[in-house]
Amino acid sequence: MGKVWIEEISDGLYVLRVDDDQTKYFEAMWDIPEGITYNAYLMKTGDAVVLFDAWKKTYEKEFIEALSSIVDPKEITHIVVHHMEPDHSGALPKVLELNGYKAQILGTTFVEKLIEAFYGIKVNFRPVKDGEEIKIGEKTFRFIHVPWLHWPDTMITYVIEDGIFFGGDVCGGYSIPPALFDDDEEVVQNYLPHVRKYIINVIGHYKKYIHQNIEKIKSFNLDLKLIAPAHGLIWRKNPAKIIEFYEQVGRGIPTKGKVLVVYSSMYGFVEKAVSVAVDEVKKLGYNPVVYKFTDTERANISDILGDVPDSEAIIIGTATYEADIFPMMRFTLDEILDKANYEKPVLVLTTFGWGGIAGKKIESLFSKTKFNVIETMEIKGLLQKGLEKKVREGVGKLLGIK
Ligand SMILES: Cc1cc2nc3c(=O)[nH]c(=O)nc-3n(C[C@H](O)[C@H](O)[C@H](O)COP(=O)(O)O)c2cc1C
Ligand SMILES: [Fe+2]
Ligand SMILES: [Fe+2]
Repeated sequence: MGKVWIEEISDGLYVLRVDDDQTKYFEAMWDIPEGITYNAYLMKTGDAVVLFDAWKKTYEKEFIEALSSIVDPKEITHIVVHHMEPDHSGALPKVLELNGYKAQILGTTFVEKLIEAFYGIKVNFRPVKDGEEIKIGEKTFRFIHVPWLHWPDTMITYVIEDGIFFGGDVCGGYSIPPALFDDDEEVVQNYLPHVRKYIINVIGHYKKYIHQNIEKIKSFNLDLKLIAPAHGLIWRKNPAKIIEFYEQVGRGIPTKGKVLVVYSSMYGFVEKAVSVAVDEVKKLGYNPVVYKFTDTERANISDILGDVPDSEAIIIGTATYEADIFPMMRFTLDEILDKANYEKPVLVLTTFGWGGIAGKKIESLFSKTKFNVIETMEIKGLLQKGLEKKVREGVGKLLGIK
């Protein structure tokens, strides 16, 4: 059972965080050996007691215990629902039951429908308009809709008097950081790659809304003092950093020298060609980040996706398999093209036995995307010495070095 954190983080504002080290595949899909946290918040202000989101149902009992250590759930007057995905709403029905269904639920109009659809309950619902400000207790809450970060229902809350930004999924990330806050730079640096992976795995399909919504948030010129997301670190030392990071991931800003290499190899033929390419990448002073599917190793597709946005270039290696792309790679490419579709150069190295087809299929897949396939090589069986030069030249072209 993961650790539960309950802490008053500013006057009358509490964080309730649980460290989920049980979920192996987030959304039954994404490998997260690093785990994830669910962060809910509770604010006491004047006569009001406001709950912001909850935890996954798996941790319902722990959530009620944590909540009850601060207030009697009966005393909750308002519940702000930023996003109805059950990683945040799963424990809500129990809270409402203990509350006697008295609390007013605030959210976008989608939320009311989703509560009924998911949990079969009718609630005291107050829809909030985009940009609407509502006084609750002694605070003014501004609700800003951020559709598709992560669902159509998604919004954030800004507390005007305190500069607090409750982000829901926005500004969240995977992993179980060893701290609540972004105070320690080492903690932040270790955490950010998990944010990139989270963004692409979970929100990547709606990538264009990242830029759109971040621009929208920025247009309000909010004085951000604290960013409190529903996953991962809370930002108080440098809240602007996580907004900027989100933008960078959305736009695919590269980390200098990073070349992503993803390949499959059943019997070592593709591996031979890829090893020449990787050698050339290193010779040219770049840093290859290599993922492979072989008979002893299986890359984590979630991690591969997370490494796309900040790569300068990508090398794909795979074999023709039953007149198609090797299945694990076909799936990986489908996911990359769907969730991490960026303007980045690509080199494709394929091998075949009796009739190469993988190269053409990959080119056709990529032709419908923002990626730019610089060169595709279809290699018959083992890469012969004479062809090594061609692979090296392909890497040179990929990296813009003739
Ligand atoms: C299960 C299987 C299916 C294959 N299907 C094809 C095919 O449809 N067409 C082809 O030209 N070669 C096919 N091959 C041959 C491989 O594409 C070829 O040996 C390639 O070099 C394998 O590279 P690798 O061992 O690095 O994965 C197949 C090989 C295997 C093991
Ligand atoms: Fe979500
Ligand atoms: Fe979430």
